[in-house]
Amino acid sequence: MGKFEVLDHPLIQHKLTMIRDKHVGTKFFRETVREIATLMAYEVSRDMPVKDVEIETPMGKTTQKELAGKKVAIVPILRAGLGMVDGITDLIPAAKIGFIGMYRDEETLQPHEYFVKLPNDITERQIFIVDPMLATGGSAIDAVGALVKRGCEPKNMKFACLVSAPEGVKAFRDAYPDVDLYTCALDDHLNKDGYIVPGLGDAGDRLFGTK
Ligand code: PRP
Ligand code: URA
Repeated sequence: MGKFEVLDHPLIQHKLTMIRDKHVGTKFFRETVREIATLMAYEVSRDMPVKDVEIETPMGKTTQKELAGKKVAIVPILRAGLGMVDGITDLIPAAKIGFIGMYRDEETLQPHEYFVKLPNDITERQIFIVDPMLATGGSAIDAVGALVKRGCEPKNMKFACLVSAPEGVKAFRDAYPDVDLYTCALDDHLNKDGYIVPGLGDAGDRLFGTK
């Protein structure tokens, strides 16, 4: 069974509270999502394997640690996942980036895939799938499905979101128990339109100023 972690670091919680506020504008929202993503990358990468390497400091030889595991691919679910990418590459600059385009039908809440473009060596990589919102879980589940269809293994995937609903967490964990799941907040419930309550509204619209 993969991990399920609520990232309750005080800085993450503080910044998340700021962007939940409906009065916050696009610029501040976008900058803060990026900052939160950087803090999340620190937490999500905590279990990356390291190995011993011998180096020479100005004082002499020493054995120290360096990263040893798979290289990273970040896969944002478009659109809103894009807002998290730069914050993660600030910490993991060599990560390759893939894209999965997905929109939710407003009536049925079913996700529809419209674009997939992944690094050629994606099956060899540790994959961080990112999307600010895990609501019904449909988009996240289909994004993992799109990667599995292309040969990726769930055990090599981590899904990171800012806000989740209990319904989405359950659906995602039931569908893909081996994928590690990280969220900054587990909110109360979904409303009848499939929005997370209290949530932060429509993440894509708030990031890109489309409403
Ligand atoms: C939002 C969000 C997730 C999805 C979550 O995207 O960014 O991808 O909804 O909902 P779910 O868990 O019920 O699938 P949306 O479909 O609004 O597209 P957008 O990012 O283009 O705005
Ligand atoms: N997508 C969003 O952007 N916000 C929600 O609350 C649910 C789905």
